[in-house]
Amino acid sequence: MSKSSRSEPKESSDSEPLPIYHHKSKLVRAVKDSTFLVVTGETGCGKTTQLPQYLHEAGFSKRGKIGVTQPRRVAAITVAQRVAQEMRYTLGKEVGYQVRFDDCTSEDTQVKYMTDGCLLREVLADPGLSQYSVVILDEVHERSLNTVVVMSATMETEKLSAFLGNCPVFVIPGRTFPVKCSFGSAVGPKETESTGYVKEVVKVALDVHTSEMSGDILVFLTGQNEIERACDMLYEKAETIDYRFDVHDQTVEGLLILPLYGSMPTDQQRQIFQPPPRGIRKCVVATNIAATSLTINGIKYIIDSGFVKQLNHNSRVGLDILEVVPISKSEAQQRAGRAGRTSAGKCFRIYNTEFWEKCMPEYTVPEIQRTSLTAVVLTLKCLGVHDVIRFPYLDSPEERFILEALKQLYQFDAIDRRGKVTKLGELMVEFPLHPGLTRAVLKAASYGCADLMLPVAAMLSVENIFIRPGHPEKQKEADQRHRALASKSGGMNDFATLLSIFQLCRSSEKPSAWCKENWIHWRALKSAFSVETQLREILNRLQQRSDFPVESFNGNKNELFRRCLCAGYFTNVARRSIGKSFCTMDGHGSMVHIHPSSALFENEKDLDWVMFHDVLVTSKVYVRTVCPIRYGWVKDLLPKLHEVDVYELSNVAREEVTEEEMTKWENKEAAKRQQEASAEEAL
Ligand code: CDP
Ligand code: MG
Repeated sequence: MSKSSRSEPKESSDSEPLPIYHHKSKLVRAVKDSTFLVVTGETGCGKTTQLPQYLHEAGFSKRGKIGVTQPRRVAAITVAQRVAQEMRYTLGKEVGYQVRFDDCTSEDTQVKYMTDGCLLREVLADPGLSQYSVVILDEVHERSLNTVVVMSATMETEKLSAFLGNCPVFVIPGRTFPVKCSFGSAVGPKETESTGYVKEVVKVALDVHTSEMSGDILVFLTGQNEIERACDMLYEKAETIDYRFDVHDQTVEGLLILPLYGSMPTDQQRQIFQPPPRGIRKCVVATNIAATSLTINGIKYIIDSGFVKQLNHNSRVGLDILEVVPISKSEAQQRAGRAGRTSAGKCFRIYNTEFWEKCMPEYTVPEIQRTSLTAVVLTLKCLGVHDVIRFPYLDSPEERFILEALKQLYQFDAIDRRGKVTKLGELMVEFPLHPGLTRAVLKAASYGCADLMLPVAAMLSVENIFIRPGHPEKQKEADQRHRALASKSGGMNDFATLLSIFQLCRSSEKPSAWCKENWIHWRALKSAFSVETQLREILNRLQQRSDFPVESFNGNKNELFRRCLCAGYFTNVARRSIGKSFCTMDGHGSMVHIHPSSALFENEKDLDWVMFHDVLVTSKVYVRTVCPIRYGWVKDLLPKLHEVDVYELSNVAREEVTEEEMTKWENKEAAKRQQEASAEEAL
């Protein structure tokens, strides 16, 4: 094995060494000399791929692993691939990666790329991270929820504030070239429908291809569906180009269209980084991942849709919702900058200046300030942080979000009235799932029917499994197949449909053919199989514990299945209201409708109470993945939604409560409940 190549400069496409190369020895020195170090440098200068290699060469891995976190799984995987290749190691051996549900490391792993969520799990098991000689928290500027918590949790309070106050900063000087930005006219303050901007992006991309000099194109869209649609449209239109007459730069002879999004297969991701054949222009259509986490060489033109898909906490419905929102101005600048790494570039914004002024915020709000904190608060509590309100977060979330998280944890029985983690909470924190779903899995396991719930949890953890073809005729056929699958499981329970698809596919002789025939994404099901195996492993491990709960039930399986779901989803229960609408029971009392993709959509007449997995907000508020339930099953759980007084909880969070105070509070609560009970009787 020729390792000599490791000390040679790593080359970018134009054969210049990466900017970080010139600072190698000083950088290694700085890491050795300081406990904490902040490293900054232009995107693409080599921080993620080179720094871990430098530290490895300098002998850091002799004292423990070199860990590098990434907020996104695609970045962790592709970067590990690249580094393994540069170091001439086999991926999974000396260089490996670990992301949720996919561990590609071994005992030999010295350089480990992982998502910040994975490191957080390791912190739980080993707060000192004793296996590591150094941990690099990458992309900290993005302030993803998990990174912020890892950081806050691994450093003691005093150290953290000292660190923030006077931490040494290593700046890698870089050079960028000017990027000329222009605004379009297609998207203004009123546009939010994705069809509009996808079409416009495609049109601009073709314009650039035919009228600009050679150089690759990077298009920013928001998610898989859109990206695939845009690629199809681009492909169709590019076919009709006559390269003898239509293109301005006569050296350009073709267009290579490549999608890039989170859940795409890894072998396809690799292609993105390869230079295109001579005469061919590469056009990468990507999510925001190409803005900072991944750098593609050779990009000269940016086409910016102005939108991004973001997880936001929607206080109207009280849930986290993935929505498409305008990007911030700083994000737009970052996107444009991707065209000026090695030479001057151009950025085509498809939105107008009014959109820029009126719709785009100055900066992106950090994730910790806009998503549900339930899982994070539970993790912190399990790490021994009692006061989760005054905890020194890098960016303090709003207090009401923390309170909401505490309330939810209390409702799920993960913490008790004093804010202490319960036995159930200790089990729950082990699962990389939403607490509600975890609760349903644990409930089912206690009744000995985990086989019903694990597949459902797995199916809800992967991308959408139903294929939605663009062609209307094919759409009809797909709909028919999906309806047939739903009726196989009784026709009135979307969760049971997921279970039945999982089972049917797994037991079929040719699972991929089965999927094709039924208009199901085989890739998604394959991931679901693997996720289910991994969840089962976690569960098996937990079931070894002597205190694992055991319960018994004598009713039918169908009812047991739905009752277990209720244990986790009683926060997502709605009751029939006026017309086709339902009213949620979580205190928000939102009006919701059953989504057309649900098997219950056309049979909603006979329904009284329903339970749902998630919410989609368009012109109406829709609930998706629904099943009917009986009031009796949630009757005892629903009061939990209103039982806790947020003010009391905030006190509980702030300080350890004394026995005496606790008794006082409990007496008060009991009196209140008694009052309510007699009021009910009086009715
Ligand atoms: O982390 P930072 O933004 O500073 O840069 P990097 O991700 O380490 O990228 C350094 C160089 O490696 C860039 O020129 C990337 O295009 C290249 N790279 C690549 O070719 N293939 C990858 N899978 C990852 C990075
Ligand atoms: Mg990087």
